Amino acid sequence: MRGDHTPGRGDEVSPPHSFTDDANAAAGVREAFAEEGLDAWSRAADLLAWDRPYETVVRDGDRLEWFAGGRLNASHNCLDRHLDERKSHVALRWEGTGGESRVYTYLDLHHEVNEAAAALRDIGVEAGDVVTCYAPVIPELVVTMLACARLGALHNVVFAGFSADELATRLRRTESSYLVTCDGYYRRGNAVTQLTTADNARMAVDHDVDPVVVERLDDDAVYLGDDHRRYADLLDDHRGETVEPVARDATDPLFVIYTSGTTGEPSRVTHTTGGYLAHVAWTGRAVLDIEPFDTHWCAADAAWITGHSYMVYAPLALGATTLLYEGAPDQPEKDRLWELVERHRVDTFYTASTAVRSFMKWGADHPDSHDLSSLRLLGMVGEPTDPEAWNWYWGHVGGKECPVVDTWWQTETGGILVSTLPGVDPMRPGSAGPAVPGVDVAVVDREGEPVADGDPGHLAVTTPWPGMSRSLAREAAGTDNGADDGWLYVTGDRAVRDGDGYVTFLGREDDTVTVGNTAFGPATLESAVIEVDAIAEAAVVESSEQGGTAVAYVCTERDHGGDDDLREEIGEHVGERLGPTARFGEIVFTPELPKTHSGKIMRRLLGAIADSEEYGDTSALRNPEIVGEIETVANDE
Ligand code: PRX
Repeated sequence: MRGDHTPGRGDEVSPPHSFTDDANAAAGVREAFAEEGLDAWSRAADLLAWDRPYETVVRDGDRLEWFAGGRLNASHNCLDRHLDERKSHVALRWEGTGGESRVYTYLDLHHEVNEAAAALRDIGVEAGDVVTCYAPVIPELVVTMLACARLGALHNVVFAGFSADELATRLRRTESSYLVTCDGYYRRGNAVTQLTTADNARMAVDHDVDPVVVERLDDDAVYLGDDHRRYADLLDDHRGETVEPVARDATDPLFVIYTSGTTGEPSRVTHTTGGYLAHVAWTGRAVLDIEPFDTHWCAADAAWITGHSYMVYAPLALGATTLLYEGAPDQPEKDRLWELVERHRVDTFYTASTAVRSFMKWGADHPDSHDLSSLRLLGMVGEPTDPEAWNWYWGHVGGKECPVVDTWWQTETGGILVSTLPGVDPMRPGSAGPAVPGVDVAVVDREGEPVADGDPGHLAVTTPWPGMSRSLAREAAGTDNGADDGWLYVTGDRAVRDGDGYVTFLGREDDTVTVGNTAFGPATLESAVIEVDAIAEAAVVESSEQGGTAVAYVCTERDHGGDDDLREEIGEHVGERLGPTARFGEIVFTPELPKTHSGKIMRRLLGAIADSEEYGDTSALRNPEIVGEIETVANDE
């Protein structure tokens, strides 16, 4: 790509030479994986330190066992083994909501994790126990995760904004007897109490739950009772103690996590110690290009899989600095993220695709007013990306010098499965790219048969991969390693694959919009809406009440209003792009779309509004107040 032409769907953009010359994954890596098959994943295992070497890359039995026979400890891999080379290098940099900050070198983090592990062991935590964590993005959360890993206990991190009911369900289902939480935290400058909610959840479960409380609030507004143990006191009691990392089998669980549940019920996923850690370290290195001594920023909440994999485990396993930010991207101002990138000289930046659309809506003057020249790579995850957002990110944040990786994966997959390798593959705005080396994907019909290149269908993964959850490893067992004998992991996403293997995502199957006899992935319709000038974001859902029509919820850009002329323009443009069936029964303008805390648009809820149905609990939303507003606007029209 040359000149000022803005690359659109189908265009190719080569990663800049300034990047590819030093990239972690270089030409030849795809070929090497293709030649060696699943054994090629030994490269991922080589990034880790093993207490006992593994016998085979993958063994087939009751379940697929990655790196079977090997033993390792994740906390040792993220801390101890780095001490010789980078004791005084920053492991974790934390920025709080109110301008506070903390810095932990690898040695500091090692000390605190050891003390926390000693404290947890002292209150009874043993290998195999589940410790539930219910706290915002504070260093103590990461310390607790690594302390659990050190003991061979499983962490079960629950998003801090979830209700007592949701916490109770997760405590119950994981039979977790330990809870690490906090007195409260600050959201947009206001103190939010957390302990009362945590206590309500404890009371709602039948078994005893032992709480450890981090004091995050500045004053003593929240009363700690006799049964609450203070995190700070516990650590004081164990000052200077060390805990030998407990060697775990590669296939032993490292943690449990619940899926975000935007479409279905949240379900429990368990990840392994060896396969998961190897997968996230390898993809962190090859796809996000994290290098030792880099500052990597994954701007997600630690409670989601993105936070586990690419905020905690990958950067620390790779010996980088991970930046943690507790606050909102627009607090105190809408340039907050760029101010942090500039101040901390961030090298690699990873965020939600929907966040990029919000940045666009806020205006380019925010990134443009900061020196972002430290950035080397930009990543996105979570929802399909349209070429316009891709271009904005590439131009305004990356200055056209940082490759943009659009990474597709899921809680169940543990780590990235589809993405360009930034040092190797050309980028195509709007398409996530090919599967990563070592992974094969296919687009199949309802019967599981591959469809022709270019036709939409269901995305399936046809080879196993090290980061697969334990239940997927069970499903894949006994099928010739899943490779040839028909094992398909059908992902629940609709997608199109072109002749070169590049995958364009169309959205979740459950969100498919059928108009007349044509099924559209929501992303197809939404990206056509967004092409219209003055449109910042859109979500399209199907309405059965309105006779199987599509309803578009649309946000306009700053300084633009929505009116009938714009509605007409949207209708005409989408018709031209996608044909006469692609018609909207209704177009509703709204200042915001309802999004979860992990940045996903809650289309299910918009569908309920379109059908005038009950939409239920909105506690999973970051902006629940918008729902009433949308309802009012929708009813007025
Ligand atoms: O629909 C896909 C979408 O997010 C789903 C997985 O969500 P979750 O388990 O919460 O994990 C999110 C972080 C990995 C997928 O089934 N998704 C994720 N990344 C992309 C995406 N859709 C399109 N493009 C992506 N890059």
